Amino acid sequence: MYINIVFYTLLKKTNYPVLTFIRMEFSNSITGLFGIRYPIIQAGMVWTSGWRLASAVSNAGGLGLIGSGSMYPEVLREHIRKCRAATSFPFGVNIPLMYPDIEKHMDIVMEEKIPIVFTSAGNPQTWTGILKEKGIKVVHVVSSSRFARKAADAGCDAVVAEGFEAGGHNGREETTTLVLIPAVADAVRIPVIAAGGIATGRQMFAAMVLGASGVQIGTRFVLSEEAGSHPDFKNYVLKAGEGDTMLTMKSLMPVRLLKNQFFKQVAAAEQAGASAENLKTLLGKGRAKKGMFEGNLDEGELEIGQVSALIRDILPAGGIIENLWSEFLKTWAEPLPCKLQKP
Ligand SMILES: Cc1cc2nc3c(=O)[nH]c(=O)nc-3n(C[C@H](O)[C@H](O)[C@H](O)COP(=O)(O)O)c2cc1C
Repeated sequence: MYINIVFYTLLKKTNYPVLTFIRMEFSNSITGLFGIRYPIIQAGMVWTSGWRLASAVSNAGGLGLIGSGSMYPEVLREHIRKCRAATSFPFGVNIPLMYPDIEKHMDIVMEEKIPIVFTSAGNPQTWTGILKEKGIKVVHVVSSSRFARKAADAGCDAVVAEGFEAGGHNGREETTTLVLIPAVADAVRIPVIAAGGIATGRQMFAAMVLGASGVQIGTRFVLSEEAGSHPDFKNYVLKAGEGDTMLTMKSLMPVRLLKNQFFKQVAAAEQAGASAENLKTLLGKGRAKKGMFEGNLDEGELEIGQVSALIRDILPAGGIIENLWSEFLKTWAEPLPCKLQKP
């Protein structure tokens, strides 16, 4: 990590003295890779991260990602175009590789000349080479150092190491962020972006001490003004405390959910020995949309991370970035709380 000191000098022809401003510019492998000011990535999230959120984050100096997993191909194209009109800074697209219309999504990001693609939930071998041939930077989301090595071998530019605390779909092995980051940082030579349980500057600093060069943040940005999720969902998340989320549906596709009525139905079915096929039937179609986008808090699937227990406000995305960065710098200047400091 480097802090470059940049001097700005204003020369006036009048009697004013020469004014010099000093600004600290941070740079590391992640800010350099994406051409951004802060190593903060707003996660791609179904039913949440459209062009409004992604452009607000990019305008504030982070990297905004459009979450394509809940979009039909032409809807994705519309979001990309609106995002481009709303920001002149870099932004990217998150593409879950299990998406049924994956070819169409990939065609669109290539046609629209998207410079950065984050892939998840699938084999990075399949698309990385094709995207890289078009000059696109590719980052893959992993939940273990074994998968991180696979992503590096496939030619990815960086990996997101996403721990057990994270909202949304998650690794089966349940490795926590605190264990996963150093393991992945030791396993690969490409930059590591930490995800899962990060919503404050202190947590961001801790992740970077563990070996990450940047952070991917989901849950904190769900509670932003620009997030596209339903206001009732956001307000419900605001009330979440410790223990109110749990990883569920492990035999189908593990996902961290708030414990609402639908979650309890799934838990009861699992306890009664439901098979993956039974769970698929119970899940049906459109559960995530129903919960997060339409605000049906009883019957919908409510994806959110453990860190929701620490968040008590809905802020503009730019304010979230400012708070994260100022707390990060403060912690960097004084990393230990008073009680741990030497007398
Ligand atoms: C509502 C929600 C939807 C998500 N959807 C996606 C998705 O479409 N694709 C993906 O790769 N990850 C998805 N995730 C995971 C995030 O990209 C991110 O890695 C995770 O939220 C980080 O952990 P945190 O929630 O503790 O910040 C989602 C997370 C949430 C909370």
